[in-house]
Amino acid sequence: MTVPEPAFETLRLDGVTRRFAGHAALADLTLDIRRGEFIALLGPSGCGKSTALNCLAGLLPLSGGSIWQDERRLDTLPPERRGFGMVFQNYALFPHLSVRSNIAFGLQMRRLPRAEVRRRTDEAVRLVRLEEHAAKLPGQLSGGQQQRVAIARAVVISPSLVLMDEPLSNLDAKLRLEMRTEIRRLHQSLGLTTVYVTHDQEEALSLADRLVVLRAGRVQQVGSPEELHTRPANPHVADFMGFRNLLRLRAEKVAGDSVVMSLEGVRLTGTAVADVRPGDEVLAAVRPENLRPGAEAEEGLHCVVDVVEYQGREMAVEARTRDGLQLHLRTTARLAPQDAITVTADAAHLLVYPAGEA
Ligand SMILES: Nc1ncnc2c1ncn2[C@@H]1O[C@H](COP(=O)(O)OP(=O)(O)OP(=O)(O)O)[C@@H](O)[C@H]1O
Ligand SMILES: [Mg+2]
Repeated sequence: MTVPEPAFETLRLDGVTRRFAGHAALADLTLDIRRGEFIALLGPSGCGKSTALNCLAGLLPLSGGSIWQDERRLDTLPPERRGFGMVFQNYALFPHLSVRSNIAFGLQMRRLPRAEVRRRTDEAVRLVRLEEHAAKLPGQLSGGQQQRVAIARAVVISPSLVLMDEPLSNLDAKLRLEMRTEIRRLHQSLGLTTVYVTHDQEEALSLADRLVVLRAGRVQQVGSPEELHTRPANPHVADFMGFRNLLRLRAEKVAGDSVVMSLEGVRLTGTAVADVRPGDEVLAAVRPENLRPGAEAEEGLHCVVDVVEYQGREMAVEARTRDGLQLHLRTTARLAPQDAITVTADAAHLLVYPAGEA
């Protein structure tokens, strides 16, 4: 397929803000997107992901800020002059047009010569592996096939930027995984620049070069999958990135980034991610898989197992301390309800934040 055009080096969102009735659904989003990058916008329902995407696409006017493609100002242009491809959550295919015609539509709108429309449509149909279904109507396709039509339609125009709003949320688990790989493959082989909206952290981590985590319209953190996975900037991001245990504790000793806290007479050592001082109330975040259950006699937090859920190779376990604090574990250890265990965590996996940030 043809190289995306017009090529650009940087797409810059500068203080992009969108208010609805005075309330900022998106506040002050500043971000440089480099050509070829795969960016995921991630956050819980209502955090402003679709708003950000629609502002980029030109479907929503900005209340503040600006959008630039290198030196060219974009936010004042109508959607069709931005040269972007968009995949909507509900696919939005034309029900009365065949797969081929759906895909060819954007090229015809651009009044390209018929031979070129045919050639590029054929190529796009092949790309998403729909050759056998090209004459069908959308209603005669499975969800995954419809999804592929929507993607082909977005990329066939060789867009300088592809915007995708939760494109996989309507698919079953197996298809979602397949399409995820497919999207990454297309992104790479076509040299696309992609902005992808999802509330699924695993999807975002596996697809994106960089993630932008939003909460209540505000950016919480921008970083690589590894940065977000290992060092979330605050307890909200930690919680969202799968640190299901957030323990409210008090810092006793601080040396460098090492923080000693205690819980029920047991000392816990963690790693400070932000500035923490002795005496501060803190939140200690740890993933279920980084809490280690041991025999009752060992040093650690004494707990009783409440619930054990089978999850393939591992068990999801809920346990409770004497004071009623609930802990979530993921472990290969064979545990049963009512088992008495002690739980420990490595300092490197116990991230400590000032409680005031929550
Ligand atoms: N047209 C509108 N009028 C008024 N408020 C709106 C409008 N569109 C969005 N909002 C509000 O803006 C906030 C952000 O909405 P947005 O659709 O961007 O969220 P989202 O992150 O995409 O959520 P979801 O994951 O549920 O799709 C929400 O509080 C929403 O109610
Ligand atoms: Mg949305």
